[in-house]
Order: sequence, then structure tokens, then C-alpha cells
Amino acid sequence: MKMMIVGSGGREHALAWKISKSPLIDDMIFVPGNGGMREMGECIRADAEDPGAVADIAAAHGVDFTVVGPEAPLVAGIVDEFQSRGLKAFGPTRQAARVEGSKSFAKNLMEKYGIPTGSSRVFTSYDDAKEYVEHIDAPIVVKADGLAAGKGVIIAKTTDEALTALTGCMVDEMFGEAGCTVLVEEYMEGPEVSILSLTDGSANAHMVASQDHKRALDGDEGPNTGGMGAYSPVPLLDTGTESMIHRTVMDATVQALSGECIRYQGVLYGGLMLTDAGPRVLEFNVRFGDPETQVVLPRLTSDLLPALLATYDGTVKDLEMKWSSEYCVCVVMASGGYPGKYQTGIPITGLRAAASDPKVEVFHAGTRLEDGKVVTSGGRVLNVVALGPDIKEARGLAYQAVEMIKFDGMHYRTDIGHRAVAR
Ligand code: GLY
Repeated sequence: MKMMIVGSGGREHALAWKISKSPLIDDMIFVPGNGGMREMGECIRADAEDPGAVADIAAAHGVDFTVVGPEAPLVAGIVDEFQSRGLKAFGPTRQAARVEGSKSFAKNLMEKYGIPTGSSRVFTSYDDAKEYVEHIDAPIVVKADGLAAGKGVIIAKTTDEALTALTGCMVDEMFGEAGCTVLVEEYMEGPEVSILSLTDGSANAHMVASQDHKRALDGDEGPNTGGMGAYSPVPLLDTGTESMIHRTVMDATVQALSGECIRYQGVLYGGLMLTDAGPRVLEFNVRFGDPETQVVLPRLTSDLLPALLATYDGTVKDLEMKWSSEYCVCVVMASGGYPGKYQTGIPITGLRAAASDPKVEVFHAGTRLEDGKVVTSGGRVLNVVALGPDIKEARGLAYQAVEMIKFDGMHYRTDIGHRAVAR
């Protein structure tokens, strides 16, 4: 089978790594891929957010099955484009991808079907939003309705901060059209967990839980990022609560969409907060999490590819995924300045030595090859991943590998998995 993977981050490298182990695979190509994926197959430069251009590549290269990594092409309708040309792709259609593409759509769905989430109000008028914000207590969460490259959720500690966020979204249009509609949501507290479920629109196969570290600095301080590390399993999530989330959130959401005549196929990502009042959905994503995928897939001992195909073929009810009980830790190595401005083109050394232990993988997230050498090309550069019998060993091994890698300005958190270690 010839596969194509769309995307260029650590998530896509981890998907490629796991899929490449399948006996069903003959060949893989990547659009556009990165410095790490280049060792596994051809990387083809194209605009991954242009459904027509990506479908042209799939057709021209005789691709049997395409896995779409990021949300933007899914929300833009890449799966619909593939379907209209008789090409096979993993992921939801544009209509189903609205659970990530429109936060108000997701919120209305959850409210209609009793899926636990924070209370919120949707506004399309700045004046109405301003008046509402002036009459409620801070902290206040302001969310741009559409896709905003991970920057559309603002947690305002004061009313003034909330008003600034509203002006940024609705008046200055800092997120373009994505911020013209906003949600003003209740502030909730508690640890977060991420659940990924493969689904064909009727049956679901839930993957093991993980936890992301979104803040840039140790101790969960500093600005929000795309994710500075992750680990799995999550000891603070007891099996009772996990099963409840599977039933009342993940299964319920796929059924709710079906109740709206929308068939959801692919992976559904539930980002939840474990509040004192019980789990609450913060967001849904329509793709694998990044960097959650990098700690979930190494724990999967069965073949990933038949599981992805089952979402397309409608055979998820017969699917049996097998998981290792080992812990997995991912440390993200980032460019100096990230999540703000950063330089690219900086040479990276130590990659081979870092990945020499069979329990360690180094996934590339923001790299490219330049004159045969791997250099930085993004904010999140590398994902160093290690497996171990417990959190301490997995973490120790990951950081041992991190210390072998060098590039100017690099930074990373030194406390990934701290909540699990504390337990
Ligand atoms: N780790 C958060 C996300 O994938 O959106």
C-alpha cells in the first residue's frame, strides 16, 4: 500500500514512524514533510492547506490512502475533495470538522445533547459582548470562534484583559474572520487530559489518555505554546472517570453528530478539564493531538494502519487495539524565543546519539535538510520521546537523550510529567 501523510510536524513524524512498521506498507510520501520524515520517503513541497493541490499529488503518485495531520486542511474540506475524486483519506469531512472549526457549533452541539462543558455565551456584536463582560466576574475566558493557530483562547484575569481580548478579536480582527464571532466562557480550574478516539461515525475505539504541558516554562508558568511536552498514561485519571469520559463525551459526541445527520470519521480529540464538579470539555479537535500523539503511539503495540483504515471502511466495531503498560514521556525542544519570534536555519547536532537507545525516538517537528545537514525550521523543533516501566525511568531516559542534542538558543521544560512524578 502507498501512503501519503499531510503535514510537517512532530505529530506527522510520529504517525509516519508508527505506520512505517505496518506490514501493509510499501511506500510513503509526505506533503510537505520535514527533515526527519525525509529519511522515510519523498517529501513533496505543496500548500498542505489547498485541498485541490494535495488531491492532485495523491492522484499523480497513485496513493492508496492519505492521512491528514493538521486541522486546517480538514476544516477547508480536504476529505470532501478526496471523496469527490474517488480518493481515500483519513479524517472528517468539512461539515464534521466544524466541531473544531467553529467553537460555537461545538458548544451548541454539547448543550443540545447534554455533553458536559463550561457554560458560555456566543456574540457576533462587539457592543453586546462588551456589555456582558462588564457585568460578569473575572477571570473570563474569551475564545475566537474559528481556527486561530492555537492562539484563539484568551484567559483574562481581569475585566480589562477580557475587554482587550474582545477588541483584538472583534474590532482589530487579529484572527481575521475567525474572531468575528466570540464565545465568552466560564473560567474553570483543574488538570487537563486529552482523549483520542478513532471512529467510523457509529463505533469508537478509544486510545490511551495523555496530558499535554501547554505553558512555555517549568511549573506551568509563562506564555501558552502549542505544547512543550506530554506523557501517558495519566495516573490522576482513574479508570472510572476515564470510562465515564469515553461514554458521556466521546461516544456521546459522535452520536450527537449522527443525530444531526453528520457522520464523523477519523480521530476525535477531546480536551477535557477535570474540575471538582466532574470532567468538562474545553475543546474538540478533529485530528491527532500534538504532542499527545508522540506519547500515545509508542504505547500502541498493535498495527496502527488497520485502525486508521477501519475508520474509513466502517469497521471500528471489530477493531482491537493493544497497548503497552509502559510510560511514555515527550520533551519538546524549542527554538530560542518560541512561542514569540525565533530564528531558523540553525544547525542541530547529536541527533543520532540521542536516538541510539531502542527505548528513545527523536521525532522532528520543525526541521529541514540544508546541504545534507539538519537545521531548525520552526518554533517547536524536536520531540524527544522515551518509554520506561514507570514515569521516572521514562522521563530520565528522555532527558538523557535531550542532553545529547544541541542547537543555538534551544530551550525546553525540565519538568515534563511532574504531576505524575508527584503522585
Ligand atoms: N496539544 C494540543 C493540541 O494538539 O491541540
